[in-house]
Amino acid sequence: MSILVTGGTGFIGSHTVVQMLQAGMDVVIADNFSNSKPCVLDRIEQITGKRPAFELCDLCDKDALEQVFKKHPGITGSIHFAGLKAVGESVRMPVEYYRNNLNSTMNLITLSEKYNAKRIVFSSSATVYGKPKSVPIREDFERSCTNPYGETKLIIEYLLEDVVRADPEWSAVVLRYFNPIGAHPSGLIGEDPKGIPNNLLPYVSKVANGKLPYVHVFGNDYATHDGTGVRDYIHVVDLADAHLHAVRYAESRKGIDFINLGTGTGYSVLDIIDAYSRVSGKKIPYQIEARRPGDIDECYACPDKALKVLGWKARFNLDDMCRDSDNWQSKNPDGYPEK
Ligand code: WQD
Repeated sequence: MSILVTGGTGFIGSHTVVQMLQAGMDVVIADNFSNSKPCVLDRIEQITGKRPAFELCDLCDKDALEQVFKKHPGITGSIHFAGLKAVGESVRMPVEYYRNNLNSTMNLITLSEKYNAKRIVFSSSATVYGKPKSVPIREDFERSCTNPYGETKLIIEYLLEDVVRADPEWSAVVLRYFNPIGAHPSGLIGEDPKGIPNNLLPYVSKVANGKLPYVHVFGNDYATHDGTGVRDYIHVVDLADAHLHAVRYAESRKGIDFINLGTGTGYSVLDIIDAYSRVSGKKIPYQIEARRPGDIDECYACPDKALKVLGWKARFNLDDMCRDSDNWQSKNPDGYPEK
């Protein structure tokens, strides 16, 4: 019995594969390296002592993906990470985001039905909540998106609801991530964004390690304790562990369920900068600048359902996240090598 992990060499995917292998699960990765590097497979093997089955595959190529199912007849379900995920880029290239994220998912669903692997854990995002009416955010809150990336996540959620409605044999677990940060404590795998990071933590890590001059703080006039944006940062290893619980949950029942993956605690941009500097002992210069279009004041999860339904809650705190981020960044100042 194998789990197909699409995008399994990416940031969250690779951390999840490590936890799955260490839990004795059988994994088949399908990835096209569009946002990752082949050496991640070596790092996964270094950490776990096991090398997962890997298939170079663009999920938008249905025939190529069908070859994966044919080659691995033991696939009984999937964790679907693969997709384009940069908010700003999605605003500039909406057609590419809709084409890639939707076609790849429809191919996966169609072939999962053909090869009787009708279980899916889907990588969704708190971005589907848009600007929430209040915080903490519960799973029954209204969904509305403010960018093409988030819209693709929301449309896939609707798609999965309709698939499950059409065929009650399906089991789908939709995980809504808040802000995943940090890295595996070994420092062998971590977040390796292309070019200048869009997200706060990798940007802070690069400033702390001398790769960028200072942090641009996007606005300090939000309705928060210090005026800077508040988010629910969750350690990527906690997030990875939650996927193992979600796989077991998907195996235990049919139908669809939606679960927030966050800590339930919000931290501001300045909280993050202070914590990272304190934990790493490194200076982190910053400048207050204008708000980034589309940003919201506060976003953090109500984590109760994940504990109730999955029996999972986040274990790592902000210091752990900063420590592990800095360990990864200082050991891999230029990210993963090309080869
Ligand atoms: C966090 C806070 C910024 C960068 C996005 C996606 C979400 C998910 C996680 C994919 C905000 C501030 C940021 C910087 C800053 N991605 N900031 N200077 O926007 O909460 O969520 O990434 O699933 O879907 O929407 O994360 O890290 O970009 O921003 O001041 O250089 O840091 O304003 O308050 P965000 P982020």
